[in-house]
Amino acid sequence: MQVTNLPKQVESVLIAEEQIQKRVSVLADEINQDFADTSGLLIVGVLKGAFMFLADLTRQIRVPHAVDFVALSSYATGTDSGGVVRMIMDTRLPMTGRDVIIVEDILDTGYTLDYLIRTFKARQPNSVSTAVLLHKPERTEVENPVDYLGFSIPNAWVVGYGLDYNDMCRTLPYIAVLKPEMYQ
Ligand code: PRP
Repeated sequence: MQVTNLPKQVESVLIAEEQIQKRVSVLADEINQDFADTSGLLIVGVLKGAFMFLADLTRQIRVPHAVDFVALSSYATGTDSGGVVRMIMDTRLPMTGRDVIIVEDILDTGYTLDYLIRTFKARQPNSVSTAVLLHKPERTEVENPVDYLGFSIPNAWVVGYGLDYNDMCRTLPYIAVLKPEMYQ
């Protein structure tokens, strides 16, 4: 479906709503198969960006599961965003013996996911897997295992479907490229 009336900050649609929903269904099917026999699936969303992906994904996961969230902040160590990641809000449910799936909206430098995988693995879960909607390979500095990937995208500032620009445009149902003049 052609999107008309794009927000003024947005240049073009990169991934349409229908494409996202199709891909999310495929990922949910894979998770349903891979975890069919588990009795302790725990799905952890990374706030804020993952809220929409997590909501759509979990509604198609038929394996009984619990949901939890973390909130993080990352501090710039130089001219870029990568570097020190700090937990602002931790999960509330125990992870011991559970199969944990971390749900992220975007894998950029990789520092956030690396921190989360290391932190969660120290909590004696049965397994830690990752579901990432978007990956920017050109930006990645730290390699992370991605078990369920939505789309690889070019190095552009994208908004929508959870992703923001100054906390705006998060609730667009599609992924769009921000106009360069917004941040240049
Ligand atoms: C974004 C995104 C990931 C992280 C990825 O969060 O949601 O959590 O950055 O970046 P990295 O791979 O370079 O570590 P952001 O800090 O923008 O917070 P938000 O989700 O609350 O908008």
